[in-house]
Amino acid sequence: MKNSIFVFLKQTHMENSVSGFSKFTKAEKIDWLIANHFQNNPKAKADLERYWNTDEVLQKLHDEFTENTISNFYLPFGVAPNFLINDKMYVIPMTIEESSVVAAASNAAKFWMERGGFKAEVLSTTKVGQVHFMFHGAFSELEALFKTIKPQLFEETKAITKNMEARGGGILDIALMDKTEKLSGYYQLHTTFETKDAMGANFINSCLEQIATTFKSCSKDIQVVMSILSNYVPDCLVRAEVSCKVDALATNTYTGQEFADTFLQAVRIAEIEPYRAVTHNKGIMNGVDSVVLATGNDFRAVEAGVHAYAARSGSYSSLTHASIEDGAFKFWIELPLALGTVGGLTGLHPLVKTALELLGKPSAKELMEIVAVAGLAQNFAALKSLTTTGIQQGHMKMHLLNILNQFEANATEKIHLIEHFKTHTVTHSAVVEAIENLRA
Ligand code: MEV
Repeated sequence: MKNSIFVFLKQTHMENSVSGFSKFTKAEKIDWLIANHFQNNPKAKADLERYWNTDEVLQKLHDEFTENTISNFYLPFGVAPNFLINDKMYVIPMTIEESSVVAAASNAAKFWMERGGFKAEVLSTTKVGQVHFMFHGAFSELEALFKTIKPQLFEETKAITKNMEARGGGILDIALMDKTEKLSGYYQLHTTFETKDAMGANFINSCLEQIATTFKSCSKDIQVVMSILSNYVPDCLVRAEVSCKVDALATNTYTGQEFADTFLQAVRIAEIEPYRAVTHNKGIMNGVDSVVLATGNDFRAVEAGVHAYAARSGSYSSLTHASIEDGAFKFWIELPLALGTVGGLTGLHPLVKTALELLGKPSAKELMEIVAVAGLAQNFAALKSLTTTGIQQGHMKMHLLNILNQFEANATEKIHLIEHFKTHTVTHSAVVEAIENLRA
């Protein structure tokens, strides 16, 4: 009985499996999916095809970014103007679906443009990669071996590092790390890199694989487990800051001091309370990720590294900090960012090229500063709303169009309802009620 159920389950699973899928043409892939997963619904096929680009060259470029591409997945490409950073004006490109993020960034940009703008500074640019290996002999023997072979490790990566060295980058150092206290027999070649304007993932991984090959060839007792860059880059750090007189923070409802005091409390809460810190930092990442994505960088790498950095003390904490001293308010962020403005998608994706051009073709360091500023601006806007009006007022106003689109409101209905909600609070149920009333 048990066996027959197993055979049945196995057969049903097998029915949904496919072999050689990647070799199918795009049309064959879609036909297989529609037949097997959409009950041959022609609308599903039409939806996939509707997002194909009519420019065949452009479509082919996107098809070839990754395997099994069957359509394109759009995200809005927005811009936030009026960012004054280190006395230079920027319009920041942002790729994000969340309704209120670009508006919040633009508001914060304008607010700080009128108060001296953002100051940003790259503190360090060192990246890391590791060869993880096992060795069960005496440490002194391994140390001696490493010392002898270290020049050869550099020498044999020369073919890979040549071009990077010409640009002022390369391998900075290779250090033997003893990790046996945590895992018996475990060591690393902890390698540091300068990759200039490239994010450097491929460069670092190629170097590491060559280092591993050279290293293991010198002793049969070395068992290399893996060679890979680390997305934790606490020494590739950028800082951005805004500051002004406390009085300059006054709003229609709050004095500057009231605003600054409550704002500071909100930051302190995020510094000591992980539940709040995660949401606080999520808001920062709204700004960071959207610029990282628009400029063709790896937002997963950035996310992983940033959150590890936020937890470096052992307790997850805020990435931003604030102070009030001698009547001056200061608000700043420090975060690790491994970004590139050459290589990867930066020279391939047409809109990434547009985004980088919009930013004035920045160096990787300048892009780090811009991204940090976007994160700081986003956090300022979120805390400003949270500690004054609450977040929903602005957020729902921006979300109104999404709800109207969901209910397929026509142009006249939209004009009427947008006008109506200028003076009424936007909630999902209020919008539904207003649409129903209008249609009745
Ligand atoms: C929403 O995407 C982001 C916020 O929750 C950030 C925050 O709470 O600070 C508004």
